[in-house]
Amino acid sequence: MACGFALNNILVTGGCGFAGPAFVRHVVREHTGVHVTVLDALTYAGNPQNIAGLPRDRVELVVGDVCDARLVRDLVAKADAVVHFAAETHNDRSIADPAPFVKTNVEGTYTLIEACRQLDVRYHHISTDEVFGDLPLDSPARFTEESPYRPSSPYSSSKAAADMLVRAWVRTYGLRATISICSNNYGPYQHVEKFIPRQITNLIDGVRPKLYGDGRHVRDWIHVEDHSSAVWQILTCGTAGETYLIGADGERDNLSVLPSCCGRLGAMGMILTGCATERVMTVAMRLTVLSCAVLGGRLPIRISRPALPIL
Ligand SMILES: NC(=O)c1ccc[n+]([C@@H]2O[C@H](COP(=O)([O-])OP(=O)(O)OC[C@H]3O[C@@H](n4cnc5c(N)ncnc54)[C@H](O)[C@@H]3O)[C@@H](O)[C@H]2O)c1
Repeated sequence: MACGFALNNILVTGGCGFAGPAFVRHVVREHTGVHVTVLDALTYAGNPQNIAGLPRDRVELVVGDVCDARLVRDLVAKADAVVHFAAETHNDRSIADPAPFVKTNVEGTYTLIEACRQLDVRYHHISTDEVFGDLPLDSPARFTEESPYRPSSPYSSSKAAADMLVRAWVRTYGLRATISICSNNYGPYQHVEKFIPRQITNLIDGVRPKLYGDGRHVRDWIHVEDHSSAVWQILTCGTAGETYLIGADGERDNLSVLPSCCGRLGAMGMILTGCATERVMTVAMRLTVLSCAVLGGRLPIRISRPALPIL
């Protein structure tokens, strides 16, 4: 979609992770006049193979840290807009060692918005629904752009802190920034530590799937490509200062996502060593603790792809 904001060069941070590369591929495919510079520190979660094969005259990878103010300023100076995906993202890791989460997610965001403010460059910030925390499982409520932030882990609180910095920079300095808050993504190139890839590799390896609580956690699931197209629309058509929720009306609990993984693997003719669907369900059903997290939210953008398929 073409709106008022024309782009020639964009800086995408975290473009070697999961959601970042999907966005880079989306831009290369759908917006042929745009050059993308990827800034990525290549942490354990980053892999340059995730953007391999893209044309070299369209995509440049710079290996570096979003907290490196001089590097960030040099790159922002060459960009029409910045899309900030880079983050530490794994909840369990954030509990074991919160320091890199505060450093990258808070200081990294500060470094980027300072450069964008000084150079008057358009900034788009990628946030997560986890900043809202949980709702009771039986609650009909849905999160909106006005919902209060109730982050519950070092990961989600560091993301919430970063969002607050962006909002303050908009109000105080007039930073031309938008924020998007997206639900759980699924799709190719996701790190194996995350829920769906972990379930799939466990199934392949014959390892018992692990669920938190009784598996009745409900999350909205959106394909990473739909996240990408929504981000592009917000970047080019969004109003500075606004926060946009991105979702797919694809609410599923973990218990029902798990058989989808099993079914997909079965449909692909893969051998499930020692871990048939029935056994997976038995393991999951035995767990008893109820926990709750429901994401809804108004869609700023119409998502055409069906949500995670039920098999
Ligand atoms: N994956 C999801 O379901 C989801 C949902 C909503 C929002 N988000 C947000 O999208 C963004 C990307 O998520 P993801 O799942 O792709 O994460 P990821 O962990 O797969 O990738 C993160 C990337 O950031 C890079 N990185 C980390 N620290 C860096 C630093 N200091 N400097 C430069 N690069 C650094 C890593 O090398 C990696 O390539 C995050 O901000 C996350 O909060 C993700």
